[in-house]
Amino acid sequence: MRMVDLIEKKRDGFPLSKEEIIFIIENYVNKIIPDYQMSSLLMAIYFKGMTTEESSAFTEAILNSGEIIDLSVIKGIKVDKHSTGGVGDKTTLVLGPLVASCGAKVAKLSGRGLGHTGGTLDKLESIDGLSVNIEIEDFINQVNEIGIAVAGQTAKITPADKLLYALRDVTATVPSIPLIASSIMSKKLASGSDVIVLDVKIGEGAFMKTIEDARELSHIMVNIGKSFGKKVVAFITDMSQPLGFTVGNRLEVKEAIETLQGNGPADLTELCIQIGSYMVHSGGITETLVDATKLIIEKLNNGEAYKKQMELIEAQGGKIDNIDTFINVKEIIEVKSTETGYIKNIDALAIGIGAMKLGAGRETKEDPIDPDVGIILNKKVGDTVEKGEVLALLYNNKDNIEEIIQEVFAAFKITKEVVERLPIIFEIIT
Ligand code: URA
Repeated sequence: MRMVDLIEKKRDGFPLSKEEIIFIIENYVNKIIPDYQMSSLLMAIYFKGMTTEESSAFTEAILNSGEIIDLSVIKGIKVDKHSTGGVGDKTTLVLGPLVASCGAKVAKLSGRGLGHTGGTLDKLESIDGLSVNIEIEDFINQVNEIGIAVAGQTAKITPADKLLYALRDVTATVPSIPLIASSIMSKKLASGSDVIVLDVKIGEGAFMKTIEDARELSHIMVNIGKSFGKKVVAFITDMSQPLGFTVGNRLEVKEAIETLQGNGPADLTELCIQIGSYMVHSGGITETLVDATKLIIEKLNNGEAYKKQMELIEAQGGKIDNIDTFINVKEIIEVKSTETGYIKNIDALAIGIGAMKLGAGRETKEDPIDPDVGIILNKKVGDTVEKGEVLALLYNNKDNIEEIIQEVFAAFKITKEVVERLPIIFEIIT
């Protein structure tokens, strides 16, 4: 087999066979196929797409490039959830303990944030003492003992994805839907869970900008999962405005805690109840989805979900002495409205970039993170606002942030007409 022939085949719109895909991935990882040929193939895939069979074969080849975690020693059905990434997306911090408190087993491998989107690991590590670097044996023991563990992905999982992602990043081929699907699903399949719930975000703050693209990505991922014998469902959810009110590591941890205490924002709470119900039902805990929702609400109301979150934090070495003194910044800056009206839009991308520039996120992988800084929204889409009222609070430790203040201000679009609130879940694809 010659790589040049396979590039030509894909360029001309013909599907690649499983053997050809295995040949490509194995030889790329082993540095026999050079970056320039792989780049060319990625661009051909970007333009010509891949069939479901090709996407599954691509996923399998990436999956087999590294270790596959064996969770079979964990008793019961293992449930996992993956978000395609967004701004203020602290769902895992809420959902994990919530479904674990219902009896589901959550063995979660998470990633770090890059660019305007945050990562679960950075949020968890903003808690003093908490470690996400857990050996696999301890990880499994923790899930068996308390029902949940959250750890960082090791370099041994899907090394082909790391190489391919880095190449896609510099060859303008990240937005290919089949490539995104196989990248995400290879990592999820390597993590070993039986049930995978995908939270596919759409809007300015997300990878997918339209419902059509989100549907296509969801269908491909669900089909890949099924071809591996997993139960997979995709929720298409809103990321046109940030999720909840907070963006920034400790701010989001605090909001997650409040949500598990029953005082969370409506959108985040609703999302966690809906996705959580599916996880609990598919995890074999309840007979019906309706019963799962009842159980989830009970655990939120009786404090057990919150207790599970504290158990998780403690099990991984973390400690929050006093939530009121958890966040410490030099100053809190108010961004105020200059108009009266209704909030029409809050640009999630602009808020995500604003939080990143304050130090809550990374522009490059090496950048340090300031756990205390970030943004609290005081308004959400559909709210009324008076001239002079606070739109957002910037938790800041930097000097000269006038430009960031202006960008956050400009992220809010205000209109005189009444604006309907957005639904948080648009569609569920099974
Ligand atoms: N997230 C991933 O893990 N991979 C992609 O290609 C895009 C988003």
